[in-house]
Amino acid sequence: MKNIVFITAFCISLLSLTGQANAGLRLRSVMLRLEVNMEAIVGGITWGDFDTIESNARAIAEHEKPPLKERKKIFAFLKDDARGFKDADAEVHSGAIRLSELAGKKDYNEIIEAYSALLRGCVKCHNAYRDRIIKQFYREEDSHRSSMGVKTEHISSAR
Ligand code: HEC
Repeated sequence: MKNIVFITAFCISLLSLTGQANAGLRLRSVMLRLEVNMEAIVGGITWGDFDTIESNARAIAEHEKPPLKERKKIFAFLKDDARGFKDADAEVHSGAIRLSELAGKKDYNEIIEAYSALLRGCVKCHNAYRDRIIKQFYREEDSHRSSMGVKTEHISSAR
């Protein structure tokens, strides 16, 4: 009986290890979550739902961090550029806080302005680091994936 428990535990840990090897970075799921929040904010702006804007901006400001080990791996890879990566992250955080605070004022112009500054922060980091990080941490076949590709397909098939 003891043996079965041991073997089962061993298999589970083996599974989780191989799972990790194929799963790439946790950063990716953090990013997908940010995108959901950003889209919810657009919805909030178009529907005039300021609570949605506020709560999703706050969720971006307080977004989950990838595990320390993963962050260290990314920073070690980026070397001197790690500073810029952290600054870009900080910019998105402060932009999201600003947007969450503005939501209470219900001023569309200011909100849209803050939203666009926030989105610029996302894109700034993507332009500088995204491809490099995907190339480094994903297998060749994964590195060709592109969320923009998915989106384009989505849009063209909706026509
Ligand atoms: C500090 C840098 C940085 C910032 C800031 C940043 N991203 Fe990213 N983002 C990345 C990196 C690196 C990747 C590739 C990660 C991966 O595939 O593991 C990525 C990938 C993505 C992806 C694509 C995921 C995929 O499957 O290819 C989305 C969507 C995304 N980010 C959304 C956002 C949004 C929305 C924001 C702003 C609210 C944002 N990101 C801000 C670095 C950043």
